[in-house]
Amino acid sequence: MSQYPLSDLTFKSLSEGEEIPYSLLLLADPSKEMIDGYLGPSQIYIAEQGGKIVGTMVLQPLGNNLIEIKNIAVLEELQGKGIGKYLIENAIQIAREMKMRYIQIGTANSSIGQLYLYQKMGFEIEGVKRNYFTDNYMEKIYENGIEAKHMIMLVKLL
Ligand code: ACO
Repeated sequence: MSQYPLSDLTFKSLSEGEEIPYSLLLLADPSKEMIDGYLGPSQIYIAEQGGKIVGTMVLQPLGNNLIEIKNIAVLEELQGKGIGKYLIENAIQIAREMKMRYIQIGTANSSIGQLYLYQKMGFEIEGVKRNYFTDNYMEKIYENGIEAKHMIMLVKLL
């Protein structure tokens, strides 16, 4: 990990009326329609540094003591510096405060770095939503030279 300063990062939930950080949300999910579909029953959180939004995360309680990270994204130029890990640590803390028992996250079969990060943070593969991306997204998505077809679901026990 680089020596990027994380100490002055602040984390807060986005209040009603505040601008939705779509440019960040779209980094994690290329479909605005899909994003708008899950924002309703969710809470948006942001990480800021020096008054600038550097990352965002969307949490949605799903019932049965389960909460999902529906979207997580860091400004492209600041990726790989620990902000994603910081956001997930905050998600875990919020979920524990909400007395949730499980936290889950889904990512594409092609999202190799994300699968690494989530497993490193204690999430374990729980299942696969087969053809989730091919069924729900108009455009084909490629990452790391692999087509994003399936959603890999990972769960962490809190
Ligand atoms: N490729 C390779 N390694 C990665 C990647 C990646 N894409 N992302 C994170 N890592 C590794 C880092 O190297 C680091 O490893 P280390 O602890 O061994 O040094 C570790 O994961 C922690 O990385 P962070 O610096 O905390 O991650 P970052 O700040 O970049 O945030 C995130 C991760 C949110 C995935 C960010 O890269 C991003 O915004 N990517 C584009 C959007 C995206 O793919 N979002 C997730 C989609 S799934 C969903 O939203 C539910």
